[in-house]
Amino acid sequence: MKICKTISETQDYVAKLRKSGKSIGFVPTMGALHAGHISLLKTASLNNDVVASSIFVNPIQFNKKEDLQKYPRTLEDDIRKLEEIECDLLFNPDVDEMYPEPVLDRYNFGNLDKVMEGRHRPGHFNGVAVVVRKLFEIVKPDRAYFGMKDYQQLKIIQAMVSKLGLPVQIIPCPTMREPDGLAMSSRNVRLTADERKIAPVIFRVLNGVRDRMGQHDIAEVEKWAIHQLNNYDELEVEYLEIVNTGTLSKPNSLPEPNSLIVCAAVNLGKVRLIDNLVIN
Ligand code: PAJ
Repeated sequence: MKICKTISETQDYVAKLRKSGKSIGFVPTMGALHAGHISLLKTASLNNDVVASSIFVNPIQFNKKEDLQKYPRTLEDDIRKLEEIECDLLFNPDVDEMYPEPVLDRYNFGNLDKVMEGRHRPGHFNGVAVVVRKLFEIVKPDRAYFGMKDYQQLKIIQAMVSKLGLPVQIIPCPTMREPDGLAMSSRNVRLTADERKIAPVIFRVLNGVRDRMGQHDIAEVEKWAIHQLNNYDELEVEYLEIVNTGTLSKPNSLPEPNSLIVCAAVNLGKVRLIDNLVIN
């Protein structure tokens, strides 16, 4: 696997690939790779000649200093995992390489970046959009792979690509889960043993939401789910909302013609977990 620390090195490598007519599938990450990341990379390798990845803990998408400082960093392990699945390229820049100057770009994605994660993590999606656009410009992928686990992020990347007419196809990939239902996340390693035992309740409650839809009013179902989670002393719901899968806006009335998704952010001890489930 070719490992590049600089933008120019990566661009040279990519230029050669493109000249020889090879298609590039790209998976951007922040490292601490787990089976969720690996599933994206494997899908990319099925549909492209070359698989490119990036590991960059993007400081401008963290709205809490502590979260950035405590973000797990396991580069050696990550490189081993990437080599195991025969990833062709890893772009692993330092912060100064990505941001030699202060970032001034400001994006507006309408409702998409105002609700849920956008409301609770000001500036987060702007930081995501800035870094992903820059990564696309450097790696020039034909296709880029994003997890449904970060559903709102996926919608924002799709909106950015369409708004700016970027020449890349965005491929959504399903959420990988532990056997007990907990969505895989780099942050899971920060849970204590006791917290780890409680964590799967989040996915169980999302399934409970799906089961209750159609028989109850949406606001009632949301209230039920928040109550189920907050019943645990260790859990604190930041938000739990049932929204349209396309616009992320609240459905007006039932029956809702568009499909819906329930999205939640829950604090478990010092760890913030997010998860979602499409419900019809
Ligand atoms: P990161 O959290 O490392 O995730 C990288 C990619 O892996 C994202 O597309 C994410 O949705 C996907 N992913 C994470 N957990 C997953 C799971 N359990 N199943 C399937 N896919 C999963 O998301 C980011 O990094 C950053 O915001 C980034 C896009 C790299 C920009 O900095």
